[in-house]
Amino acid sequence: MATSILPGTSPFIMAIFGATGDLAQNKLIPALFSLYKNKSLPEDFFIIGFSRREFTKEAFHDYFQEQKNNKAWKEFSSHLLYQSGSFEDEKGYKELDKKLLQIDKQIGACVTRFFYLATPPDHYQTILNNLVSTKLSEGCGHPSASSGQANSWTRIIIEKPFGKDLETARNLDKKLAEIFEEKQIFRVDHYLGKETVQNMLAFRFANGIFEPVWNKNLIDHVQITWAEESGIGKRGKFFDGVGILRDVFQNHLMQLIAAVAMEQPKSFTKEDLRGARANVIGAITYANEEKPIVKGQYKGYRSEKDVSPDSKTETFIATKLFINTPKLEGVPFYVRAGKKMKKNLVEISVVFIQTCHILFKEYGCPEIGNVLTFRIQPNEGIDLRFIAKTPGSKLSLQPVNMKFGYKDDFGTSGLEAYEKVLLDIFAGDQMLFNRSDELESSWELITGILDKWKQEKDGIQVYSQGAWGPGEANELIEKDGRKWLV
Ligand code: BG6
Repeated sequence: MATSILPGTSPFIMAIFGATGDLAQNKLIPALFSLYKNKSLPEDFFIIGFSRREFTKEAFHDYFQEQKNNKAWKEFSSHLLYQSGSFEDEKGYKELDKKLLQIDKQIGACVTRFFYLATPPDHYQTILNNLVSTKLSEGCGHPSASSGQANSWTRIIIEKPFGKDLETARNLDKKLAEIFEEKQIFRVDHYLGKETVQNMLAFRFANGIFEPVWNKNLIDHVQITWAEESGIGKRGKFFDGVGILRDVFQNHLMQLIAAVAMEQPKSFTKEDLRGARANVIGAITYANEEKPIVKGQYKGYRSEKDVSPDSKTETFIATKLFINTPKLEGVPFYVRAGKKMKKNLVEISVVFIQTCHILFKEYGCPEIGNVLTFRIQPNEGIDLRFIAKTPGSKLSLQPVNMKFGYKDDFGTSGLEAYEKVLLDIFAGDQMLFNRSDELESSWELITGILDKWKQEKDGIQVYSQGAWGPGEANELIEKDGRKWLV
């Protein structure tokens, strides 16, 4: 009789739906390859690409052109299999099932199965339906499969965006719950796997000196910039259907806000941490003002491949939010995210109330005093800006920076986010994955914005490529007497 093997240290099969897509190509397979090179994968592992294209296994390997002559890649690619199939048709799934059973036979055990849905969200329901109808969702041919035991070794991994709005997210969650137990479901947001995002919790809660100042009495405002130099590349079809709001704002930006604004969890355990994230996301509202949201589109977006020529999809958003928690209520959070921006940069700055003027008004206080900046990427690290006396006989003041840099202090920026995501999936650790209440709350906010946009005729502002979004994004913060720090 075949024996079940514990995940983590044992063989696994990962079937990737959407294997020829951007995510698998640029993030997942490279992360798996990197884990392989670092000897973080077991001896026996099988990655099965599942996609529409009629590829042979070899053609699938060749798809990763830039690796072609790499020796380690050649070894790694012997673990890469391929199954062509349309997401709608059971046929491909049945073939996949045969491949999985063949692997179980070869290993002589019921091998852990991961089904990774790396497709646009429109396909999730269809794939789930077919996993059920072909019984793939029930786990391997283990004799105890009917008792549900083998089932627990099957994991389902769902990429963001988790749905398109509150209703589709709820439906998707309902569907997942009908098929799998919560411990089998991994809702990915790779920003949770970023070292710098995890480190915000260590910074805030492992050091006693910051929490006492983390409140509305001392924080003036928070600003978050998420900027990418590149446009939408080959992802026109996907992106035009979702926009920046659903692509990064509903997920990555919400998690950045959660990391900076959450209350200290009761304990550093999966449920308490997820609970603290869910609470703070549920407390986010946008400002009750005439124009709390700026929506932009970069010049030339409508001529991108697979984009509708009269597209109204936003590639930029800036907004002013509030967090309705006793500690932070009334503190504005200015958040902007955009493609084709001036540079690649993800940063969170906590700007403290300026007190310099109380004593040093006549000595030229800098406009902004203390700022704590979390550099999520690039140059991962943390800066603390404070005011210092410049050397000399007369008193004059100037801002200076105290810097922590991952590379300088640790010699490395750590694991790539998807490597961490994958390792946690293998280990069955769900702490850095979304719970459905976190997603519900963020979708509630986002669906509110989408509904508002539906009522507006054409609120989209065009901005030049390489700018920091449209001018209205500056007005959003400047009308409050503040300005973007980058
Ligand atoms: C993805 C978005 O989730 O994150 C992309 O779909 C974006 O549009 C990417 O480019 C950014 O990830 P990272 O890790 O490079 O910041």
